[in-house]
Amino acid sequence: MGKIPESFVEYTDLLPSLKEATSWELLRQWSLSEVWRVGKLDGGSLIVKKGIGENSREVSVYKNLLIPLELGIPTIYKAYEDKDIGLLIMKDLKGKTLEHDPQHKDFVEAAKTLAKTRNKARLGIIEGKLTNESYLANYISKENIIDDLMYISQQSEYIETDQSVFLKKALNVLPYHVGQLYKNFPITLTHNDYHSKNIIKNNEGIAIIDWASAYLSPHLGDLYCLISSAKDNNIAPTDLIYAYREEIADNLSCDIEWQINIGGICWTIHVLRQLLDYGVKAIPVAREWIPEMISDIRMLLDDL
Ligand SMILES: Nc1ncnc2c1ncn2[C@@H]1O[C@H](COP(=O)(O)OP(=O)(O)OP(=O)(O)O)[C@@H](O)[C@H]1O
Ligand SMILES: [Mg+2]
Repeated sequence: MGKIPESFVEYTDLLPSLKEATSWELLRQWSLSEVWRVGKLDGGSLIVKKGIGENSREVSVYKNLLIPLELGIPTIYKAYEDKDIGLLIMKDLKGKTLEHDPQHKDFVEAAKTLAKTRNKARLGIIEGKLTNESYLANYISKENIIDDLMYISQQSEYIETDQSVFLKKALNVLPYHVGQLYKNFPITLTHNDYHSKNIIKNNEGIAIIDWASAYLSPHLGDLYCLISSAKDNNIAPTDLIYAYREEIADNLSCDIEWQINIGGICWTIHVLRQLLDYGVKAIPVAREWIPEMISDIRMLLDDL
């Protein structure tokens, strides 16, 4: 039998399948999460993910959003949540992430998958597939976004004066644009880390993992993230925009550049808030990412 890692020993009574594991291969370890590939007696394998603190919420994202909206991929065999800890035992999708194997056709497919996921989630919300409680617990309002920007602009310990001045100016123009976004585009599911490292290509196609940051909002930050990953691999943004527009409902593909820019702003504000709330404590080097992220907001705002 494979030796159970220290961090899972106390959960083996809750998740008896772990007792039968023949091997444990560590795939990823951060201070707030760890992911293992666990071998089974029958020769198959499972993925086990442990999230701590804010990252434990991935369990409730599956239970309350992805499964009711029928987007539950990868399949979850068992989920456990207790205060600060979340455990998921899920299907091993095998394959490779787009970070490891960045193929143009797979990025195009990921753009289409994003559009299909947004279509399905939007309809599921309209059809009442989410409970009122789940909806409200995961809904990000336009006021939340502006409040976060206000909060970020006040963190003088982390932000240079000129960036703080810029953020305060942004507070004059951004409420109008975020208001337009919420007025003209419907609420759907946003993944909020739609980068190549979280997109797996296997024999069955494209699958999205790592849903710990997902919430409900109209913003298109996910396409912004996919385009950022694609640029690192010399894949043209226009190819992905074209693929996304092919699959998204007609009335939602208008002003696409504007949607991507405002989506990028909403996403960056959200990540900055997470960094300030707990990220910098969990990963100290993350402090150094802050100035660049504020510069990104400045560039995106200039292009609106
Ligand atoms: N269901 C799965 N099937 C196959 N591989 C998986 C699965 N879930 C996770 N992995 C592998 O484990 C890695 C880490 O998983 P995940 O992204 O969920 O964790 P994370 O701690 O949030 O990592 P990161 O912060 O680097 O995104 C993935 O990049 C992928 O290689
Ligand atoms: Mg990941």
